[in-house]
Amino acid sequence: MAEHPAYPVGLRLAGRRVVVIGGGQVAQRRLPALIAAGADVLLVSPSATPSVDAMAETGEIRWERRRYEDGDLAGAWYALIATRDREANDLASAEAERNRVWCVRADDAEAATAWTPATGRVEGVTVAVLSGNDPRRSAAVRDAVVEGLRDGSLTAARTRTPGVSLVGGGPGDPDLITVRGRRLLAEADVVIADRLGPRDLLDELPPHVEVIDAAKIPYGRFMAQEAINNALIEHAKAGKAVVRLKGGDPYVFGRGMEELQALAEAGIPCTVVPGISSSISVPGAAGIPVTHRGVAHEFTVVSGHVGPDDPRSLVDWASLAKLTGTLVILMGVDKIGLIAEALVRHGRPSDTPVAVVQEGTTATQRRVDATLATVGERVRAEEIRPPAVIVIGAVVAVNAPKA
Ligand SMILES: C[S@@+](CC[C@H](N)C(=O)[O-])C[C@H]1O[C@@H](n2cnc3c(N)ncnc32)[C@H](O)[C@@H]1O
Repeated sequence: MAEHPAYPVGLRLAGRRVVVIGGGQVAQRRLPALIAAGADVLLVSPSATPSVDAMAETGEIRWERRRYEDGDLAGAWYALIATRDREANDLASAEAERNRVWCVRADDAEAATAWTPATGRVEGVTVAVLSGNDPRRSAAVRDAVVEGLRDGSLTAARTRTPGVSLVGGGPGDPDLITVRGRRLLAEADVVIADRLGPRDLLDELPPHVEVIDAAKIPYGRFMAQEAINNALIEHAKAGKAVVRLKGGDPYVFGRGMEELQALAEAGIPCTVVPGISSSISVPGAAGIPVTHRGVAHEFTVVSGHVGPDDPRSLVDWASLAKLTGTLVILMGVDKIGLIAEALVRHGRPSDTPVAVVQEGTTATQRRVDATLATVGERVRAEEIRPPAVIVIGAVVAVNAPKA
């Protein structure tokens, strides 16, 4: 029988009984997909791993805490047999054969009537690979196909995402964009990119892709956002797949919602892809955790683009000065001297550690350390320039021991 290739099929298990015998590692690995398929899962096992136990606790599966008994497969459409007890496996497998229930056996692929393929899912496509009796090879082929579809290196006829995708590109290192963001970029006809973010990825785009530098859209300073919105709308209306590539996360000081609103008003569909914000990742890249047990129980992300005494400021610096946790300031290089003074004036100790991290996660990243008393002067003396993230608080002094 084993000389014939297996016949691949997609089982539609929603609402149908699947019996799993044995609650160990095999069940732990297989159960999430069965639950995702909507199967009515009955687990029969005297014990289970903590993860499987949690699935029973939350009602995702029903668990009978006992050994296998004849008749357990009654009403089942599909069975997974995965106990360490060979005799119980043989008995359950024999019951499956009698009842014509397709049955996977973890201990004996030859004795099984079904095999589990190596599977992966990418944007609604299920990839399932069987390669006879070589699960490692199946997993390797699955990984290659899934990875290729994800990053766009394996192209297949597909419907492109229509309209505009607002993609958070992460802090700058091209490896720190999300898988979804990278795929959308690979499918784009037009990319409108900010100055910040993973600029290196733009070099990888094929020549037919039109790359527009958002900073160079020719309009006056205050018209710039409107001009970007218009460019997004115009290209989307022309039927192009448009990616608006932004630094960090689109919704963290990124004006993402303004663009989404403008697109919605123009009736253009828009997908928003979150990104890794510089507010957390840039401190991390410089070795600073924004929270640390026993040191900081909160972190607050603040824009420092206007000074503390500027009437346009929406930030309550007096209240921020009373917090003991971490303050992360974006767009604060110009005003950091004034900000530090305001924090000290309102009660934050002047020896509070501060780190300024310029061009985080890129090849030119650098970190300058100071205190609230000295940071204004240090930033000037070291000629720190934007983009930089400023971290204020005791976490700055938390170091990993030298390896
Ligand atoms: C307009 S805000 C956009 C923030 C972005 N949406 C995010 O989530 O990271 C720009 C500011 O983010 C910070 N920033 C972004 N990328 C950075 C990087 N690679 N290194 C240091 N700071 C960065 C700087 O404070 C910069 O002035």
